Amino acid sequence: MSADSNQDNVVRLHPGAGRNKSRIHLRGRQVHLDTLAQLRELIGDQPIKRDMLIEYLHLIQDSYAYLSAAHLAALAHEMNIPMAEVYECASFYAHFDIVKEGESPPAAVTVRVCDSLSCQLAGGQQLKSALEAGTDPTQVRILSAPCMGRCDTAPVAEVGHHHVDRADAAKVLATIKAEHFHPDIPDYIAYDAYVLDGGYALLNKCLAGDYSWEDIQKVLADANLKGLGGAGFPTHMKWKFVRQEPKPRYLAINGDEGEPGTFKDRLYLETDPHRFIEGALISAWAVEAEAAYIYLRDEYPAALVILKTEIAKVEAAGLAPAGGIHLRRAAGAYICGEESAMIESLEGKPGLPRHRPPFVAQVGLFNRPTLVNNIETVYWIRTLMDKGADWFSSQGRNGSQGLRSFSVSGRVNNPGVKLAPAGITMQELMDEYCGGMADGHTFKGYLPGGASGGILPAGMADIPLDFGTLQAYGCFIGSAAVMVLSDHDNMRDVVVNLLKFFEDESCGQCTPCRVGTEKMVKLLQRPDWDQVLMAELGQAMCDASICGLGQAAANPVTTVFKYFDANLIATDLAASATPVASAGDIT
Ligand SMILES: Cc1cc2nc3c(=O)[nH]c(=O)nc-3n(C[C@H](O)[C@H](O)[C@H](O)COP(=O)(O)O)c2cc1C
Ligand code: SF4
Ligand code: FES
Repeated sequence: MSADSNQDNVVRLHPGAGRNKSRIHLRGRQVHLDTLAQLRELIGDQPIKRDMLIEYLHLIQDSYAYLSAAHLAALAHEMNIPMAEVYECASFYAHFDIVKEGESPPAAVTVRVCDSLSCQLAGGQQLKSALEAGTDPTQVRILSAPCMGRCDTAPVAEVGHHHVDRADAAKVLATIKAEHFHPDIPDYIAYDAYVLDGGYALLNKCLAGDYSWEDIQKVLADANLKGLGGAGFPTHMKWKFVRQEPKPRYLAINGDEGEPGTFKDRLYLETDPHRFIEGALISAWAVEAEAAYIYLRDEYPAALVILKTEIAKVEAAGLAPAGGIHLRRAAGAYICGEESAMIESLEGKPGLPRHRPPFVAQVGLFNRPTLVNNIETVYWIRTLMDKGADWFSSQGRNGSQGLRSFSVSGRVNNPGVKLAPAGITMQELMDEYCGGMADGHTFKGYLPGGASGGILPAGMADIPLDFGTLQAYGCFIGSAAVMVLSDHDNMRDVVVNLLKFFEDESCGQCTPCRVGTEKMVKLLQRPDWDQVLMAELGQAMCDASICGLGQAAANPVTTVFKYFDANLIATDLAASATPVASAGDIT
């Protein structure tokens, strides 16, 4: 051990005490041998890897329910990296509880109550208040948390890692009492059933050379398959761009699905995981990737169990090299859905988006060319090959091509994932797929693309919903998360909810976003809205932010100004439940 023992059971690390090279870190910090032993037991005999830092933090958090300063120091020592690096990473992610020396650990049970829009509409705040009133804070910690990807069953709470759908206080308290802290695993198509249904025949043909990568690429191009994570970039072109770059290359699958209102990826993972895994393996084969990484949000514990179990079967069947698929668990940071932030996180760092160029297709994971695709994008590959490009591309409506998985939530009778023609209008989607407005509600407006895609009034429900069709209105479809608002919903409360989400989730790297989201929330809380000032702030955020979060965060505000009736806004401002900020708060 490269440090001196100066008292029983304690290693004091001195500057220059790094394992292989002289490196100044952990100045004066003590690493306890027993903590080090605990850590080594958790990590096991796998080699220590720098990119695994977040996984190691999960191991500690899962075992001890928090991260003590002693564990962080031991981890820094074990990984031979500065304590500051470990601390910086751990403190970036909402799902790690750091407990410094002298601080008390959190209560044994944590309940997270979703405070994103669809849950707010369904009474999430009242649920949180009822739980705070009905629990002992020394035993149970009640936290607010952003969208958990179950918006069709709002309001939602998570007890430990067990989600309570359509939650009320009684259900949550019963869950705590029963100590039901682990996810229920839904029925899904497991490996044998998938293979029996012709699964992996396509991958086997690819591996056997019956298909070239161009054969598959042509089908994706003819089907006009676009990236379904939000940006809508043609998938076949990404394959080409990544292949143009030198090897080694990587595949990184984006399963962060953090955009409030989105839950389609979870549905596909929890029902037909191998269709996704086969698509991912074909993508890896197409770009000749060295390894495939799957980045899965921590809010999807059932999908994590399913993927772990099923990937092991795929490797055992020889369809992927042992250890060739790396399943990584995120830790509660929306920004890590942005592809370059996801790559930083996969490397075991805080998820700070990178400046572009270079693009991740050129310089991505471990600085190598990387194909980044959303879960649903690759999920489609087998189906397109089985059913043909024409089948897919002929399905659109109002001039669009293909199918889209709309995650619909809010004030409709039947929320859920609706596989519907691209280009369908809001009105058609609601009438044909969602059973119309919820009883007792009158249609007021809708969000066509999650929290960042803008808000349109009911009178504009005839616009085709697809990539490119909403831009003219200052909106976008993004991940196709459609949230429906009614006359019961107050526009100030709605917009404050959305902007608070961006304020909380801004990575803080650039000023227009970090300060802009905070100021916008305060301006929205003023008794009257200074629309000129807010439009100017929104423009600055859009023009000068590094990544899509800051660039799009003001969309809900600017679209409400543009399209909602001034009298309606005035009425909503007066009736809002949001506490009003004073001018002094906005400096
Ligand atoms: C703030 C922000 C959050 C994002 N979150 C996600 C996400 O959760 N899942 C996702 O697949 N893409 C997300 N994206 C889009 C990704 O950056 C990227 O475009 C996508 O993963 C590429 O895959 P695709 O071409 O298959 O869509 C996000 C983008 C931004 C700017
Ligand atoms: S725009 Fe916001 S989230 Fe994106 S890099 Fe800047 S501060 Fe971070
Ligand atoms: S689960 Fe609450 S808004 Fe999505």
